[in-house]
Formats: sequence, C-alpha cells, structure tokens
Amino acid sequence: MKNKAIGVFDSGIGGLTVYKALKEQLPAEKVIYLGDTARLPYGSKSAETIIKFSDGNALFLLTKNVKIIVVACNSSSSYAVPYLQDKFDIPVLGVIEPGAEAAVKHSKSKIGVIGTSATIKSGAYEKTIVEKKPGVKVISRDCPLFVPLVEEGWIDHKVTKLVVEEYLLPLKEQGIDTLVLGCTHYPVLKGVIAEVMGPGIELVDSAVTTAVKVRSILKSLGWLSGAQDGGEDEFYVTDFPDRFKRVGEIFLNKKIGKVTTATFYTVSLPQA
Ligand code: DGL
Repeated sequence: MKNKAIGVFDSGIGGLTVYKALKEQLPAEKVIYLGDTARLPYGSKSAETIIKFSDGNALFLLTKNVKIIVVACNSSSSYAVPYLQDKFDIPVLGVIEPGAEAAVKHSKSKIGVIGTSATIKSGAYEKTIVEKKPGVKVISRDCPLFVPLVEEGWIDHKVTKLVVEEYLLPLKEQGIDTLVLGCTHYPVLKGVIAEVMGPGIELVDSAVTTAVKVRSILKSLGWLSGAQDGGEDEFYVTDFPDRFKRVGEIFLNKKIGKVTTATFYTVSLPQA
C-alpha cells in the first residue's frame, strides 16, 4: 500500500487547490488527479447525476491502483462520499468533514457557508457543523457566479468585487464570525473575499484541513509512502487537456507535466 498513489478527483480544475495542499502536507506521495472537465460543472446538477459521475471517477482512479480516494469537489463530497465509502474497500475522504471541523474550531457563534447550488441545497456542511457544535448558527448561501468568474481568470476584476459584495455582504450584516469557502474554486478568490468581509471574519479553506486529514489516515494505517519521492504525479481529464494544463499552471503557479485524456466511460476494473 505504501507505494501506491493518492487518487484525487474533481469536476475539473478547481480540485488543484486540494492537490496543492496535499503536495504541501505529503511531498513524498505520488498523486493521480482526475478532472472531469467533460461534464463540469457539477454544482448545478442533481444529486443522482453527481453520484453517478463521482462513481465513474472513483472507478477510474481504482484502475490506477490508488490507496485512498480524495473527493476534492465539494458538490461530489456533499452527495457521493457515503455512497463511495460503502461501495469501495479503500478509504474515501471528502472535503465536508474536514471543512466543518475547521469551521467549528474557529467560530464562536455564527458560521457562514458558501458553495455551489448543489452543495448548499444538500445541507451537508450545515448538518456536519451542527453535529460537531450543537447550537451554532449556520447561514448558507450559494454563489453560482463565482466558478465562472474564476474559470475566466477574473480574479482581480471589478466585476468580481461587485459579485462578491452582492453575495456576501448580507452574510456579513448577519454577523457571521467564520466563512467556509465550500467550493474548490473559492480559495482563488480569497483576496477579494477577505477584502469584502473585513478582518473580523475567519475564512476557512477546506483544502488544507483535508490534506492534514489524509496524512493522518495514511499514517494511522501505516500507508505513508516510504520513498523520498513517490514518483511523478499523473493528471487526467475527460476533455480539453490543453486548457487544463494552461489554467492549471495558473492555479498552481508551477508547471504541470503531461495531461492525458481519460476515456474511462468504457473501462472495467482489472482482476484482483
Ligand atoms: N468542484 C466544484 C465544487 O467544489 C465546483 C465546480 C463545479 O460546479 O463543478 O463544488
């Protein structure tokens, strides 16, 4: 198990925020990343569709013999993680649990949660937060325009600032002390979100807490890579590898090696 890779999937490019955090926490581990760019966005899709797509992504990663699956996509994490945990024998970790854990650690009274429409509709963050800290008030809001703004690279754009104000000032006015960035893309907007929310509101990015959790799971299982360097990471997408490489390098602020188009809709699992 030690020498196997960590599998990560997302609906597309945004999960690279989780990939980056994993590489910071676990530099010796090899990561195999799948971005389902052909079927993105997940955030506007139904629970059934998100579970179906997530199942296909997990099966693809299993053909690569990964030792753990990290569901970087918040929309998938909101609906598909219990299903995948039931179905597969290896550990499957989503971003909701670690994100909620970080939020309750920071918050004294009122937590804001933002995400895609699918994530907010699922109520997954709210439920997990309240389980961890009964009595805490959670105010949720979907921000469907954030993902296209990030995909367009409009990070410091005046339009983005206006959209952030429109979505988030009502949360600020309701007195939240913590804001969960419940979508892969939102950490990229952290600068403008912090500016609009002001210094009194803690921004929680589940990527880092998820990576810390992956490390503790692998450690407890004795599955941490024994190698100094686990080998070159692999990147797969279901469409537009060139775009993934170009925008991904902006996300990561470093070069991405080869990006391969995965044709997993037809793959079957190898024999055990
Ligand atoms: N990865 C998605 C999430 O974190 C955002 C992009 C999408 O809607 O597919 O919810």
